[in-house]
Amino acid sequence: MLEELLKRNRSYRAYDESVRVSEAELKHLVDLTRFIASGNNRQPLKYHISFERAETETLLSMTKWAAALPELALPRPGEHPAAFIVILQDLSVNPKLGAADKDVGIAAQTILLGAAEQGLGGLMIGNFRRQEVKEFLKPGEKLEPVLLIALGKPSEQICLTAVPESGKTDYYRENGVHYVPKRALEDILV
Ligand SMILES: Cc1cc2nc3c(=O)[nH]c(=O)nc-3n(C[C@H](O)[C@H](O)[C@H](O)COP(=O)(O)O)c2cc1C
Repeated sequence: MLEELLKRNRSYRAYDESVRVSEAELKHLVDLTRFIASGNNRQPLKYHISFERAETETLLSMTKWAAALPELALPRPGEHPAAFIVILQDLSVNPKLGAADKDVGIAAQTILLGAAEQGLGGLMIGNFRRQEVKEFLKPGEKLEPVLLIALGKPSEQICLTAVPESGKTDYYRENGVHYVPKRALEDILV
């Protein structure tokens, strides 16, 4: 079950806009993060949920998607995400920005696996304009946005594939299918 969920949990950059994601669904995903591990159990992360179209569109405008495929200008109009979860580091709990990044990764993966379990999908976004997001959300002086997660009902086909001879791991598109090369087990065991 976990393996199936992990394979389905891809980075989606096209969504069915007719499917909204509710406040309750987003709160459930954030609730899951209360059970994850945390360095020294400090639990320095907070979450902002966004599900109203105007707000999600504003957050979207502050993000950059698929830097490896700039010509596609993703996400396309009509394929925007329905929601965002913004992960914030609480500097009053851990004052060193970046020091909670391992917690951030665990939290983000937990949220995305929870979303995949519900038939949703998402995208982790590290490439966003932090200051603009901060000015827009006004989360308070001590809360620093560290990662955005777009969420919605995926509407694109993504295939995992082997890393080619060249060793290139860049994702690519062919005939409308998004391919993501993943290394083989023998190549990651040392
Ligand atoms: C920490 C982190 C930050 C990421 N930031 C972005 C981003 O800003 N924009 C984007 O389009 N994809 C982003 N991604 C998605 C990666 O491009 C994606 O994970 C990779 O292409 C592999 O695809 P997969 O997640 O389907 O395996 C990010 C992924 C991670 C783990």
